[in-house]
Amino acid sequence: MRKWDVIVIGGGAAGLFCAIQAGKRGRKVLVLEHSETIGKKIRISGGGRCNFSNIYTNPENFTSKNPHFCKSALARYTPADFVSLVEKHGIAYHEKKLGQLFCDGSSQQIIDMLLRECEAAGVEVRCGCQVTDVSKDQQAGSFSIKTNQGSFRSSSLVIATGGLSIAPLGATDFGYRLARQFGLKIEEPRPGLVPLTLTSQMLKQLAKLSGISLEALVSCVSKDAKHRTELRENMLITHRGLSGPAILQISTYWKRGTPISINLLPEKDVLDLLMRNKVSEVALANLLARWLPKRFAQAWCELYAASKPLKQYDLSELREIADKLQHLQITPAGTEGFKKAEVTAGGVSTTELSSRAMESKRVPGLYFIGEVADVTGQLGGYNFQWAWASGYAAGQFV
Ligand code: FDA
Repeated sequence: MRKWDVIVIGGGAAGLFCAIQAGKRGRKVLVLEHSETIGKKIRISGGGRCNFSNIYTNPENFTSKNPHFCKSALARYTPADFVSLVEKHGIAYHEKKLGQLFCDGSSQQIIDMLLRECEAAGVEVRCGCQVTDVSKDQQAGSFSIKTNQGSFRSSSLVIATGGLSIAPLGATDFGYRLARQFGLKIEEPRPGLVPLTLTSQMLKQLAKLSGISLEALVSCVSKDAKHRTELRENMLITHRGLSGPAILQISTYWKRGTPISINLLPEKDVLDLLMRNKVSEVALANLLARWLPKRFAQAWCELYAASKPLKQYDLSELREIADKLQHLQITPAGTEGFKKAEVTAGGVSTTELSSRAMESKRVPGLYFIGEVADVTGQLGGYNFQWAWASGYAAGQFV
């Protein structure tokens, strides 16, 4: 049985980053990845350009049962730290919008950078390695890991196997199973950053709006019903339901069975605008087309209010129209699930982990980093920043 200081299971963003930090400290590190290549999610991320961080990263961009948990790791490894690494490797990048940093070239540059850093830190990476059994020798305080490539022993074991989203990219429930094996609590994993589906009746109603994208303020009551989450971004109506950044963002916070509220004209006082045009001959659809895409305005009117000249509506009808434009309530049927989710919310409970080291409180030497832990970022580079920061944090202690 070969002995290592640190074994990392999962060669994705968090696992590789942790391995690099530990290797730099002189630890003998082995990464075990079950896929034939490392970093599959990095490769396809950001439309192939990897939205690797966000300048405005703040604990408020993350959800977790304990919203304070991510603070320590995020403070000790910041977007500026990762940017200086990217610059050191000569990778050109740009801010697309809202602080989102992307490679000018391809995501492969980030993978190559991580591999070069692994090599420089003396980290060994084994792909195609299936872990069949993990146990802890309580007396020796070390872990024994059996795989299809032989058995290994290590004093620290880092679980960086990610969440359940998109199985063809290597996702498994390994991290959760291992946590349960050691008696650790799991917050129920659920799809996050995922399109929302609608009932067939609702889909039929919205069919005419399909393919339209528009900016909206979307909100929902949080899962704990204590506060409202509000996000303003583009929303897309599809033949399956609702998508686009605003919907993906809200999906992480949405609780099944509850409505989401959509404000289609967030900057306007719609009732006031309608009242000011109350004596006008202009048709409602034409008035709305001044602020909304024309096809959308027409289809929306057919659906909710017909399109008559403004002067033919009475006050209560105008009130209703304004309400439907600014507080449209839609109860999604569900989500498109882990097949389409960009992340997995929930995971290994933060009550089980030290926020400084990401180490299990019950099982010394066992660490959980990245998406497998119950910390989920919003859309826009935050999930990778969490992977780097949590990997960095554990890398200082393993
Ligand atoms: P990650 O999933 O990256 O890595 C886990 C690794 O463990 C994988 O290599 C997997 O094969 C391996 N593994 C799993 N089970 C194993 C087992 N039993 N044995 C051995 N290895 C095992 N985020 C962002 O910030 N910006 C972006 O642009 C995007 N874009 C994006 C696009 C798409 C389509 C998806 C699905 C996701 C994103 N994300 C993103 C989210 C981001 O990819 C994700 O949050 C991080 O990759 C999480 O990093 P981890 O290292 O925790 O898991």
